[in-house]
Amino acid sequence: DISSAPAPRSKATPKPRSSAPMTTRDRIVMCAPDHYCVDYVINPWMEHQIGQADLARARKEWDALRSLLAQRAELLFVRPEPGLPDMVFTANAGLAFDRTVVLARFMTEERRPEEPFFQAFFEAQGFSVAPWPDEIPFEGAGDALPDAKRELIWCGHGWRTSPEAPPLLEAIFDRPAVSLRLVDPRFYHLDTCFCPLSDGWLMYYPGAFDAESLETIARLAPPERRLEIQLADALHFACNAVESGGRLILNEASAGLQHRLREAGFEPMLTPLGEFIKAGGAAKCLTLKLNATRMEEAR
Ligand code: ARG
Repeated sequence: DISSAPAPRSKATPKPRSSAPMTTRDRIVMCAPDHYCVDYVINPWMEHQIGQADLARARKEWDALRSLLAQRAELLFVRPEPGLPDMVFTANAGLAFDRTVVLARFMTEERRPEEPFFQAFFEAQGFSVAPWPDEIPFEGAGDALPDAKRELIWCGHGWRTSPEAPPLLEAIFDRPAVSLRLVDPRFYHLDTCFCPLSDGWLMYYPGAFDAESLETIARLAPPERRLEIQLADALHFACNAVESGGRLILNEASAGLQHRLREAGFEPMLTPLGEFIKAGGAAKCLTLKLNATRMEEAR
């Protein structure tokens, strides 16, 4: 399939760094907001928002995000389905490495009908679907975040994904899956409060985790690689950021946080996504990276 083939690279291209290689274009899945709205409540952000999302404005915000990403990444699109307003949040479609995908097994009945459409998309792209037990909820890359530097997967549980998911992911993707417990209902997916960045940096909101999980984070990441953020930034979905093509794309960040990000070597780019925050999602939720391991990139 030519349309999804990686961009050709010349032999002279330098070897990619282990994380965020500038020489490899990310492949990112999105789903247009044709049928986006808030018409049920499955997280605290959606309360009092039924019928309140402005579709024209949502479309503009989504187009702006898409344009920013398209400058440096290869985008793939899932066809939006009428009656499935949350399909725009492709992060929850599944978790993919190379040619293998674990599809979401949604916790909420409202989103379960999305599953066959995401499955059809991955199959059409040539992915093999890993077997997954139906009784174990797993909400894809909303709750499972690859850490390229540490070669592990950070896994959130407590709201949408079962604590039984990490060992299964470990076996399927042959890398450690580290379990983190989410305790604040506003931060119901791991990607709403935790963001692994290149070179081992972690940006996260500590208040979203229990004490044991904070110890786990501290054990795996030295203080000089941890960017702990304040509640105000977290409530603007600062952790819900997409690092791609050497930039960090996010809804909003305070001047202080932007400064800290630049000091750490990142280039924050703000793009407003307020219409999607009404449903509890922002930049990262609207995207799904198709992860490539180093061996795959070297082919
Ligand atoms: N309304 C959606 C839900 O509650 C929002 C999903 C946001 N996605 C994410 N990866 N955090 O499922």
